[in-house]
Amino acid sequence: MKKWLQNKLSCPECLYTESRLELEIQTEQSDDVIEGQLTCATCGRSYPIQRGIAILLPEKSLPILTESRGYNSRGMLSSYLWSHYSDLLHDPDATDAYKVWSSCFRNTDGGCALDIGCSVGRLSFEMTRTHKQVIGMDTSISFIRKARELMNRKHLEFDMIIEGMMTKKQSCVFDNGWNYRNLDFIVADALALPFPQNTFSTVASVNILEKVPDPMLHLLGVNRVLNDRNAMFLFSDPFSWDEAFIDPERWLSGKTEGRYACRGTETMIRIFSGEDGIFDPPLNVITKQDVSWKIRKTENLWEHIHSQMLIGKR
Ligand SMILES: C[S@@+](CC[C@H](N)C(=O)[O-])C[C@H]1O[C@@H](n2cnc3c(N)ncnc32)[C@H](O)[C@@H]1O
Repeated sequence: MKKWLQNKLSCPECLYTESRLELEIQTEQSDDVIEGQLTCATCGRSYPIQRGIAILLPEKSLPILTESRGYNSRGMLSSYLWSHYSDLLHDPDATDAYKVWSSCFRNTDGGCALDIGCSVGRLSFEMTRTHKQVIGMDTSISFIRKARELMNRKHLEFDMIIEGMMTKKQSCVFDNGWNYRNLDFIVADALALPFPQNTFSTVASVNILEKVPDPMLHLLGVNRVLNDRNAMFLFSDPFSWDEAFIDPERWLSGKTEGRYACRGTETMIRIFSGEDGIFDPPLNVITKQDVSWKIRKTENLWEHIHSQMLIGKR
């Protein structure tokens, strides 16, 4: 964990008292804490730093760490590494989705940025071009381990799944002007963002709203950590609600009756404009666009996604 990160963090169990964390270092390498712990001055809970990764999960999210399926699986790692970096591998099937999402940062004022559900880190790397500090966070330890490895080695290498256990080595060197010193990746939960209020000038929530069990709580967390002024929220989601992840009671669109009997973008425009007091101050929508994005599961199985992007400013 980069040492500068300590001043940005607060306890994920004490969200509304915003308790700062005390750092104890066991091993370090220049500005990186390799082993150690962060302890909350209010509740006394400790959060480990293991192999350079700060794990800031609230107690109820801890089981995700040892889950070997889902986003921690070998297959997901191959899928997301391809999805994030296939353009750098000059794959003719690559999309320009991360370029489209990051193009909205061109005129930002260079503050601190948060990428929620960063997976293997492409958007976070892109954010370092335009922000003075960037934090990528995800509940998948496998993704965060790989993102930190990419950050430290500046080099991508992975076994891309062809079919079953058959794989093909993929590799490339990163030489594209990313600023690695002011970037870090942590394990944290989108429903318990471990940061004080008004910490970020930019927050990104890309393709994660439909994955969290309480989407409204996620948006409330974004509002809390996003600055009140001169702030940007990059939001994108395909709204492919699935009962396996979220109780339909909590879906924010796609229902057949009630206030969410509409498309996801319509709900989000209402929420950006201050409905239910989620975004306070409200956000002005400055961009609304579909982003074409692909996930490659195997050589024969692809997901083609139209992610609905909205950019809000306040
Ligand atoms: C569909 S992927 C999108 C990844 C990335 N934002 C992108 O667009 O390429 C959803 C990501 O959210 C992460 N995720 C799921 N639930 C989460 C939570 N509660 N907190 C943080 N990350 C979460 C997953 O591990 C995964 O990396």
